[in-house]
Amino acid sequence: MEIKNLMVTGGLGFIGSNFIRYLLEIPDFTGRIINIDKLTYAGNIENLMDIGERYPDRYIFQRADICDFDLMRDIFLRYHIDAVCHFAAESHVDRSIKRPESFIHTNVIGTFNLLEIARTNAENFVLFHHISTDEVYGSLGPEGYFTEASPYQPNSPYSASKAASDHLVRAYHETYGLPTTISNCSNNYGPYQFPEKLIPLMIINAVEGKPLPVYGDGKNVRDWLYVRDHCEAIWTIIQSGKRGETYNIGGNSEMENIVIVEMICDILDHILPPPEGRPRRGLITFVKDRPGHDRRYAIDFTRLRQELNWSPRESLASGLRKTISWYIANRQWIDRVRSGAYQAWIAEQYDERASV
Ligand code: NAD
Ligand code: TYD
Repeated sequence: MEIKNLMVTGGLGFIGSNFIRYLLEIPDFTGRIINIDKLTYAGNIENLMDIGERYPDRYIFQRADICDFDLMRDIFLRYHIDAVCHFAAESHVDRSIKRPESFIHTNVIGTFNLLEIARTNAENFVLFHHISTDEVYGSLGPEGYFTEASPYQPNSPYSASKAASDHLVRAYHETYGLPTTISNCSNNYGPYQFPEKLIPLMIINAVEGKPLPVYGDGKNVRDWLYVRDHCEAIWTIIQSGKRGETYNIGGNSEMENIVIVEMICDILDHILPPPEGRPRRGLITFVKDRPGHDRRYAIDFTRLRQELNWSPRESLASGLRKTISWYIANRQWIDRVRSGAYQAWIAEQYDERASV
């Protein structure tokens, strides 16, 4: 069934904004996008400013908190929502260790609200697609891969809250027959990522000649996926994924953190020769480890490859070069995101209930 009014939650964050941009630029989606975002520190209205201007009939932004059940129900009815692509979440592990409350509210209660509204208020509902993480599976040793059958063993408040939301989505399919799909994805990187996550933080610190803080021994492994590849995988699942099914998404790019940081230093040294010729690797500083730090994530995405014919296009080296170039070219975006200036500006521009 064709999607006419797609609600994208968290569409002003990193992956959500890339996804909206991707979807409006491909020919095989012709519907309307209703982007719902609370604009926390991680959401930035500027990420899609040009999209609002280029697609005035196909793109609507509504500031809202997914934890506000009544407001979300109003939005569902007002825009005749027939599908949801759910990105909105608190997403940073270190923040979840310091202050877990908002993770439980947004990731668990917020997801529950959307499921409940979709179940009870949406006519001819096509799909609820839930974006999740490989972190729900816990930590791997040096061998092996996460498959869709791996047991859930979340270790941080973030991954535990995402695991809870995955279970709710699954239960709404099993109990009520809500058409759902779930994707569990490895670490993303690319344009518009808030500079608290490893790759953008290291790029910016390296450009500014600041220390590059590597946790523990730097030998923790992540499987890196370029964000546009993730967007393409999500759209593939929305179009052709089996309802009630889960799909793992990975980048075929396992790497130790320390190697990633060294790669960033070397690419940057090449593009922007360092002051006084000192290689940026000299900025690497080993710092105290994160509590409960998962050692290794690695994804087996055979199901997605074999059943839906998806594989990542970007290699880690090519994706990193694109990402580094984007951050160098978008200095103003970085300054505004870090200064908090845009937050004050947004507060003046948008009242949460203004247009409903
Ligand atoms: P992000 O932190 O960059 O963006 C999250 C967005 O959600 C922000 O725009 C924020 O304003 C919005 N938001 C937060 N709370 C909200 C609420 N209560 N109501 C409405 N909007 C709210 O996150 P991201 O990196 O883009 O991740 C998006 C999704 O993908 C998350 O569900 C995350 O768990 C998942 N994921 C991320 C990665 C990754 O590497 N970044 C990997 C796998 C899965
Ligand atoms: P992060 O980008 O926070 O993603 P996640 O914790 O969801 O995997 O971290 C990626 C890896 O990089 C993780 O092993 C922690 C490590 N890391 C550092 O070593 N230094 C840092 O400053 C940050 C933010 C992360």
